[in-house]
Parts: sequence; structure tokens; C-alpha cells
Amino acid sequence: MTTTQPRIQWLGRWGFVLAATGSAVGLGNIWKFPYMTGEYGGGAFVLVYLVCILALGVPVMMAEIALGRRGRGSPIDAVRRVAAESGRSAAWSLLGWMAMLCGFLILCFYVVVAGWSFSYLWKMLSGGLAGGSVDDMVAIFAANNASPLNLGLWSTLVTVVTMLIVGKGVQGGIEKSVGWMMPGMVVMLLVLILYGVFSGGFSDALRFLFVFDAGSLSSEGLLAALGHAFFTLSLASGAILTYGSYLPAGASIARTTLTVAVADTLVALMAGLAIFPAIFANGMDPGEGPGLIFMSLPLAFQAMPLGTLFGVLFFAMLSMAALTSSISMVEATVSWLCDRQGLSRRAAAWVAGGVLWVISTLAMLSFNVGADWTLAGRHLFDWLDYLTSRWMMPLGGLGTALLVGFVLGAAPMREELGLSSAWHALWLYMVRYVSPLGILVIFVDALGIVSVEFATHWPFLLGLLLAISLGGELASPRLRRTLSDSTPSREGVE
Ligand code: PFF
Repeated sequence: MTTTQPRIQWLGRWGFVLAATGSAVGLGNIWKFPYMTGEYGGGAFVLVYLVCILALGVPVMMAEIALGRRGRGSPIDAVRRVAAESGRSAAWSLLGWMAMLCGFLILCFYVVVAGWSFSYLWKMLSGGLAGGSVDDMVAIFAANNASPLNLGLWSTLVTVVTMLIVGKGVQGGIEKSVGWMMPGMVVMLLVLILYGVFSGGFSDALRFLFVFDAGSLSSEGLLAALGHAFFTLSLASGAILTYGSYLPAGASIARTTLTVAVADTLVALMAGLAIFPAIFANGMDPGEGPGLIFMSLPLAFQAMPLGTLFGVLFFAMLSMAALTSSISMVEATVSWLCDRQGLSRRAAAWVAGGVLWVISTLAMLSFNVGADWTLAGRHLFDWLDYLTSRWMMPLGGLGTALLVGFVLGAAPMREELGLSSAWHALWLYMVRYVSPLGILVIFVDALGIVSVEFATHWPFLLGLLLAISLGGELASPRLRRTLSDSTPSREGVE
């Protein structure tokens, strides 16, 4: 059954920007980005990540929002409708299915990490982080994970809170909470950065984050940077597309995308600048892995004036940031359950929440009683992260780029994006060639199909391929038409 009511919309341009920023800024920026940077060698990883955001993330995000607004539905319905409008097969809705599944699977491990954040907030409040050495912090993190009851309680709490908010609807709550959570997060990060500047370790952190050392980048790191660019912008997982489906007709997609991408990137870089001084000053290993921020930041908070207050505020903000992202991950599933299965929002939220609880509880056990339950060397927690970030998101991004770049007619995207001819041609070029080739090249390398020393040769290879594609396009009548076509678009020229 399909609903016939008009789709609810955000309160305005800022409603969408706030909600999309709330989705993008989350544990990915503050928990995952620093530990991945540590694992994959610092500056080189950061540079590739920034290139991926700009060259692949931004164009694909614009495409997702445009698809959502054009199709006005869950990812499955929106993609099917937009494809049908151009006379294309309904099979393209598989892209929507994959996105919806991807968002849901991410949430299954995300609630466990959000549970860490909540439990550290509680520890900060109750004095459970006493002890001044790195070893103490490592022991506290390990003890927090060792009890399935403790960890399960926190991830269950996150699941319940997420579903309560989602059940209430996308409006008001999200828009309002992000409005004060984001500035709060920025202030907390600034406090930590300032503390780092005066307490030592800051110049090491700067060098680690921003000095590009090509030799330290593995092809594994390249794929990780690509996957993370999609993860941090919430792409290919149904969130942005579904939020786009609530976007009012007049809002500029390009401007909102840039706002979200810039805010997201700034928060990630600030998180790096806040966390690494504490790591270097305490002689910790930047490659510590997922526990990195939970082991390093409490040490910094203990040593700084008003540390407990700042610590409480920080973990409160982190937990909020995690929630505004979690909400967006199930939004696609809930929207589909409402639109297609006829459930009420609240019922849809609890059905999704029930399934989520079972899978996330199993994922949580990876840290304690299920430590030996591995498949090909990975726990369920690692599998969920690996499958979504390394495979489903890049594949989803590739599919989206090909769909909007080659499969759909020119009109839908021109009308939705409303760019001037030159900007539209640039965007089209990015989604047709730069994004797919970037994704393919990194896949080819990761699969070991061709063994190339990517750290030194991949820019050259990519440049060559792009030059060929540009030459081909300029020669083709279709792009020439796009470039010279000055038909006024629906939203005017950007
Ligand atoms: N972008 C979020 C973060 O960086 O924490 C994670 C995320 C949210 C991924 C929503 C996917 C998604 F659909």
C-alpha cells in the first residue's frame, strides 16, 4: 500500500541543513576519523580523505539529495520513480534497497560505539575515570567492554532513545537539537585544541595530521579513506537521500551540500587537532584503534582546569552527535515501512528497533563473550563496519553516479540542481568520470586485480584517465549541448 498524503517537509532551508549536518557530524568525525588517521599513517590519509570528500563526496551528495527530492520517497521508491520518469528499468531501485540495508547495518554497530560514549558520560559524572596513567585508561576501556550486561545496557539505551525520537517524526526534534548541539561541539573541540596548544604535543599533532608522506599510505589506506568519505557524509546509506525527499522545492542543493560538507570536514579536522596532542603528550600509540579517543581524552580532561565539567560536556555533545546520526540511519527504513507497508511511524520505529536490537546485541558481544566468534578473522562488529564502509558505500556511490550521469535523462537533474550551465557541466563531469573512476581505481587496487604502486602512481593514472574522458566528452555532441544550453532552470542560476 502507498500513502497518498503529501510528503512532510523541513521547515526551510536551514531545517534540512541542520538535519543533514546532524547526520553527517557524528562518531565518524570524532571517534572514527582520528583512529583511522592514526592507523593509516597520518597526513597522507588526511589528504586522500579530503580529495575524496571534494571529488567524490560532494558530487554524489548533490545527486542523492536531487534524487530524493525528485522522487519524494524512501530511497527505494524515490529511485524507482526517478528512473521511471526517464523510462528506465525499475531494477534501479536495487540501489535504494542496498542503501537502506547499508544504513541499517551501520546502525547495528554504531549504537555500540554510541553506547561507549554514553557510558563515558556516566563515568565522567560519577567519577568512574579516576587514575592518571595511560595504563589506567586502557584498563578502564577494557573493563567497560568486558561485561556484556554493562555494554548491552548502554547500546540498548541508545537503541531505545533513537527509536523514541524517530517514532516522533523528523521535524522539530532533530532541527532543534542540532541547532545547539553543533555549536556546543565546536566550542568543546576548541577548548581541547587550546589546551593542547599550551600543554604540549600540539606541534607533533600538526605534523602528524598535515605533513604528507606518500610512503606511509597503503592501498588499504586509500580504500579506507574513500569509504570514510562516504561514511562521514552519510552517503549511500539512505540517510541523505531520504532527508532530501523532505526538502522544499526552492532550496539550493549545491549550497546546502557545500555547507554540510564544509561543516563536517571542519569538525573532523578539529577533532584530530583536539585528540592527537593528548596522544603524543602521553606517549600513546596513534594506531591504538577504536578505543583511541576513549583512552586519550579522559587523560587530557583530568589534567586540565575544570576538566570534569569539560569532560561531561564533551561526552554529552558526543552522545548527542551520535544520536542525530543514528536517527538518520533508520530514517530510510522507517520511511519505507510507513510508505509501503502502511505502518504508523511509531510502529515502524519499533519494528526496526527490534531487529536492530538483536543484531546490535550480537555485535556488542564481539567485545566480550563472543570474542572468539570470528569469520575469516573478523568479529560481527568488524564485519558490519567492513562490509558497509569498504563495499556497500563505494558501490552505492558508483551506482548513484552512473545513474545520474548516464542513465537518467538530462532534464530531471538540471531541474533539481538548478545550476548555471558551466557549473552543471562541471558537476556532470564529476559524476560521470571523476567519481566512478576514483571508486573503480581504488577497488581495482584493493582487489589486487592490477598491482600498481598507487602511493606514487595513482595520481598520474587517474589524471591520464580523466584527460581521456574529458577529451571524449568535449568531442561528444551531448556535452557540447550541455555547455551551450542556457535554458533557464527551475531555481534560477546559482
Ligand atoms: N556520518 C555519520 C558519522 O560520521 O558519524 C555516520 C553515518 C550517518 C553514516 C548516517 C551513514 C548514515 F546514513
